[in-house]
Amino acid sequence: MAGEDLKDLADRAAAEIAAAADEAALEAARVRYLGRKEGALTEATKRIAALPPNEKPAYGAALNDAKRRIGAALDQRGAALRESALARDLGGEREDMTLPPRRVRVGRLHPITQTIREVSRIFGTLGFETVEGPEIEWDYYNFEALNIPAGHPAREKWDTLWISNPLGDDPSRPILGRTHTSPMQVRVMEKRKPPIRVVVPGRCYRYEATDAIRESIFFQYEGLAIDEKLTMADLKGTLYAFARQVFGSDRKIRFRIDYFPFTEPSAEIAFDCFACEGRDPACHVCGGDGWIEAAGCGMVHPDVLRRVGYDPSQYQGFAFGGGIERLAMLRTGAPDIRLFYQNDLRYLEQF
Ligand code: PHE
Repeated sequence: MAGEDLKDLADRAAAEIAAAADEAALEAARVRYLGRKEGALTEATKRIAALPPNEKPAYGAALNDAKRRIGAALDQRGAALRESALARDLGGEREDMTLPPRRVRVGRLHPITQTIREVSRIFGTLGFETVEGPEIEWDYYNFEALNIPAGHPAREKWDTLWISNPLGDDPSRPILGRTHTSPMQVRVMEKRKPPIRVVVPGRCYRYEATDAIRESIFFQYEGLAIDEKLTMADLKGTLYAFARQVFGSDRKIRFRIDYFPFTEPSAEIAFDCFACEGRDPACHVCGGDGWIEAAGCGMVHPDVLRRVGYDPSQYQGFAFGGGIERLAMLRTGAPDIRLFYQNDLRYLEQF
């Protein structure tokens, strides 16, 4: 077959391809001309070996030209067939205006996030700025700077999740998941000069079993106020104002003496039990006590002030720290803290 015949072949192929009525006819044409086994062009290619050397270049060029033309014709017809198939499909469809729209699922803030924002907002109205701090903390800030050196019995109050120190496991600088937000008292005082009024919401960790009101990962909010003439009356007034804004004036608040190594004097705040209001001796929320401990507080210990370079005769202040989940339970009536973290939308969507 000479170059001229190849041109005829390509002409014939192009005409056949352009006339292919559907995808199957097109495929049949492709096999007929380009098919690997018996395609006309494949056969023609095999013949090149038998040609005299001086005829090979012209024949090869004609072969390439035929291949290119047939390939282009296949592409073109294929595209045209797909287009008309699509147009046919779309033309057959009608919009159903009676079909109900797909439900839009609107996201919302988790009740714990809502509670954190509410705490920040309320303390904001009392002049407190919201700041945040590290969840992974040095033993120094979590304990030592707060008057709780190694071996101090008060450490038992905070069952600790210790972390192996990625900075070379230096045993003299142990790190942990902070057991409370109080280390931020020290960090804030180290960085700032009084007057200070901050509230610090954040995640804390404790090595303890979970029950209806305790989780090993939970949130606290810490408050710190340092100034020249702050007293216990300011502490009490601030926390009462806070409690009234969260719960209204009906909720009863108990203010009792307590002990913390980093405050002196120290107190504990409890709210009356929202679940049983003190009437159920077997209440699973308050344990029959009628009260739910909500926060610890007190006047910042002079040793803590001295450690950050403050003169206790010039500056005093108060600190408080409470559980966010407790507040969220009180606000939402949730009977079990675990409901917040099971991520069951049927529960979470209520808020
Ligand atoms: N950090 C204490 C706790 O977790 C609470 C507290 C905060 C007490 C501030 C006094 C002052 O139990």
